[in-house]
Amino acid sequence: MVPGAKNSVLKLMATTILCDGPFELSNVPDIADVSIMGDLLAAIGVEMSRPAPGELVLFNSGQIIPVAPYELVERIRASINVLGPLLTRCGEVRLSMPGGDDFGARPIDMHIAGLEAMGAEFKFSHGYLEARADRLHGADITFDFPSVGATENLMTAAVLAEGVTMIDNAAREPEIIDLCEFLVAMGAKIDGIGSSTLTIEGVEQHNLRPVAHRTVPDRIQAATYLAACSVAGGELDVIGARADNMTMLLDRFADMGLRLESTDHGIHVAADDRPRSIDVATLPYPGIATDYKPLIITMLSVGDGVGIVTENLYPGRFRYVEELQRLGADVRTSGHHAVIRGVPRLSGAPVKAHDIRAGAAMVVAGLAAEGETRISGIHHIDRGYDDLVGRLRGVGATIDRDTD
Ligand code: EPU
Repeated sequence: MVPGAKNSVLKLMATTILCDGPFELSNVPDIADVSIMGDLLAAIGVEMSRPAPGELVLFNSGQIIPVAPYELVERIRASINVLGPLLTRCGEVRLSMPGGDDFGARPIDMHIAGLEAMGAEFKFSHGYLEARADRLHGADITFDFPSVGATENLMTAAVLAEGVTMIDNAAREPEIIDLCEFLVAMGAKIDGIGSSTLTIEGVEQHNLRPVAHRTVPDRIQAATYLAACSVAGGELDVIGARADNMTMLLDRFADMGLRLESTDHGIHVAADDRPRSIDVATLPYPGIATDYKPLIITMLSVGDGVGIVTENLYPGRFRYVEELQRLGADVRTSGHHAVIRGVPRLSGAPVKAHDIRAGAAMVVAGLAAEGETRISGIHHIDRGYDDLVGRLRGVGATIDRDTD
């Protein structure tokens, strides 16, 4: 069973800042990042509780403190998602500047420029970003690049702004659609959902209401199980996966020889042979997500032939390649390209998880490797995957988690 998407639920949680009352979220993954976002929201004035597995209640008391402190912000990138809701609701915000990631710098210039166009004034001092705006107003904003985070921040800010905001070249990931649907249920007025032009007509605070919402399934977790099946062979039912949110990836996986079928419950996959090597380039949705890339490179490592993978989002996101090489993969990188010559089998060795997706790729690589693969740094994996070990064991993998 694939749980809800990390990159949706964290944004839904941040959006509860917009109005008072109890919000109920279901299909919530049991991952470390949800707890961290819960701690950040508690400091802001939204209390989180977990009435049952997979469920969250977020209670916004209305006593909002528009400050996001360093200790909490530096722990997850998604903390930047409190910027739009805090500014639009409180007229001011003080947010510690989010840091980069192991795979490179992650600027927020588009978030700032968009909010400035809506009337906010920004000041940067002592590591904190301070913004003010009595009331944001609508604006026409065209992005140079369809940034996921900037689309989300501007959209949530525009919900309570005066007038109409148009975001052109907006991101349109399934998680953005999930957030739009959540906002519309709350009383927001959004047109163009799922397209690259979003039009948001601001409403008054009293027009918003708390809602119950089921989080969209995690397409990256789903892809992880498909990749695991691809390198290990056999068949798998990935329950809860939504094929319609992964169309281009599934096409490429089919090119690699996987037999895929969309069922009433999810996706059925069968792998008869080594994956066939192909060339892949990452792009914003509906293209192949950068988050799939470590999995694809791992599959190509045991592919039949030579594949080239081009990274168009984070040029530095190749660090795990060194770890794959330790397992015997033949991968060479140059700039934002990787050339992967498939070998029949990897060979188990100690490796490190450098980030969430790289960590999951190491687990998949371990399934493709002869002998034992020992992965350290698994706290990264816990940030985005719930019970990866249990789920893989459940379908026959020999995998354990050290408690120490
Ligand atoms: N960018 C800018 N300026 C901005 C915003 C973005 O230059 O103001 C650049 C970034 O530096 C990067 C590119 O645009 O090169 C993509 O950034 P985007 O804003 O689209 O990504 P994000 O919102 O920071 C989310 C996911 C990432 C995922 C990317 C791309 C969350 C919390 N994170 O990041 O997920 O890789 O979109 O799809 O939603 C992960 O889950 O492991 C992860 C890293």
